[in-house]
Amino acid sequence: MTRHLITSALPYINGVKHLGNLIGSMLPSDLYARYLRARGEEVLFICATDEHGTPAELAAREKGQDVAEFCAEQHQVQADLGAAFDLSFDYFGRSSSPQNKELTQHFGRKLLDNGFIEPRVTRQVYSIDDGRFLPDRYVEGTCPHCDYDRARGDQCENCTRLLDPTDLLNPRSAVSGSTNLEVRESRHLFLLQSKLADEIRVWVNRHQDWPVLVSSIALKWLDEGLHDRGITRDLSWGVPVDQQGMEGKVYYVWFDAPIEYIAATKEWADEDPDNRDWKSWWYEAEDVRYVQVMAKDNVPFHTVTFPGTILGSREPWKMVDYIKGFNWLNYYGGKFSTSQKRGIFMSDAIELLPSDYWRYYLLANAPETSDASFTWDGFAGTVNKDLADILGNFVNRTLKFCSSKFGEQLPEGGAIGAAETALAEALQQRLTAYNTHMGDLQIRKAMQELRAIWALGNEYLTEAAPWTVFKTDPDAAAASLRTAINLIRIFAILSAPVIPNAAARMASTLGIELTATDWVDGDILEELQRLEAGHGFEIPDVLFRKISDDEVAAWEERFGGSA
Ligand code: 2FM
Ligand code: ZN
Repeated sequence: MTRHLITSALPYINGVKHLGNLIGSMLPSDLYARYLRARGEEVLFICATDEHGTPAELAAREKGQDVAEFCAEQHQVQADLGAAFDLSFDYFGRSSSPQNKELTQHFGRKLLDNGFIEPRVTRQVYSIDDGRFLPDRYVEGTCPHCDYDRARGDQCENCTRLLDPTDLLNPRSAVSGSTNLEVRESRHLFLLQSKLADEIRVWVNRHQDWPVLVSSIALKWLDEGLHDRGITRDLSWGVPVDQQGMEGKVYYVWFDAPIEYIAATKEWADEDPDNRDWKSWWYEAEDVRYVQVMAKDNVPFHTVTFPGTILGSREPWKMVDYIKGFNWLNYYGGKFSTSQKRGIFMSDAIELLPSDYWRYYLLANAPETSDASFTWDGFAGTVNKDLADILGNFVNRTLKFCSSKFGEQLPEGGAIGAAETALAEALQQRLTAYNTHMGDLQIRKAMQELRAIWALGNEYLTEAAPWTVFKTDPDAAAASLRTAINLIRIFAILSAPVIPNAAARMASTLGIELTATDWVDGDILEELQRLEAGHGFEIPDVLFRKISDDEVAAWEERFGGSA
């Protein structure tokens, strides 16, 4: 049987992630992992903090902390927030782990042995006043392409062009502001991607099922021609390069970060070595289907660079089978931005409302086929309509009415008939579509089906009208209430990957416990009669509360939302 390896792009360590980061990788991969587990599949879901690189060092410096201490602290912050959003990682690792050091050095050696890495003497910006080299973001200056005067050594934020520190005009040190800089020679390792380009293209072309967003980015990079890339830096924070003549240098963060997918699996196994086998997931792992989830800016590194690392190792490491890429979630048309603190961050969001509200909204509005935009109005509209009116209201009014007429148990009497058969048929159709979309990671379509499944409950109740029928035919009313309460059980199971807390509450209201592997697989008409007359329930508190206009206004004000 196939085993499923799922990785979410690794959140960068330099601060709490915003909702754009959450929906760009961690949340949809969690949905997929939960869905597959519910279908009884064997799943390993891995994530980690991406801890190396100059942004981490600069963020630590800004906080007046040692970088290792900063990373340890921020890792815990992100792990706690992941848990608060019910991200069901099997393991949440750290790219600064000893396991990643070992594996990164291993890949570096293999690539060198196989002739895909070559040392070259390069020209690097050196700060005389700081007494150090200034790689990547350590140097700032004016972009030679667009004149933006706060461009960073690795990229211009304004025109998004990738840069080399020596490209910048009027360079200055990001550490001290010093302009007392010079260019010095420094030996670095280069990954000879040009030698691997044909193989990478053949591999990319084998994956005709990838989303267009992903394959078009991969092919664009390949068509533009792969350049050999410097994969080491003159820094002390990172995985040290264990090769002769390279003392004092570390691997570039984008070299070691994807290797952490493998290393985090080893971290996971090292916690329980008798029962966990990391290598079986990654090495000669023919029975594994590997899915990666990420935002579009990460796609080149996962379709070209990291595959190049693996192919060049000439070892049978598992390569990704399917890549799900996302566009951007914007905040009122502009970008969510960590550096400019624009938008909503996970820590703020979870303070305002429980995770289910955010999970459903974000998944239902996932930026799949194009960029999407977060607005507080849109958020409130979705919560109030889909979660409060359609799902919550169905659950509450069904149980309240039943309890007022028959007590807190499924009522006796009556039998199912044509209405229930029609309901079962409609539900079966929707469920088939829901399964298909979940399996294909078509997130928005899946959420549309789920909403339509919830709506079947209200449509059924409206037609069966037990509150009217009760007056003349209590048995018929009893039969439809039994069916409606069974629908609540089905909704709990089918909603669990999306809104796990509400699903658990719906189940516990019915006196049943949901497990991670529950799904609705059987004959639907039978499923609609699973809980029988006499089965007790409790009336839950409101499942989802509505968001008021005043709250929308207050949150717009607080978070700087404007039309
Ligand atoms: O874009 C980012 O936030 C990166 N930290 C993603 C890394 S994904 C993987 F390759 F590690
Ligand atoms: Zn620019």
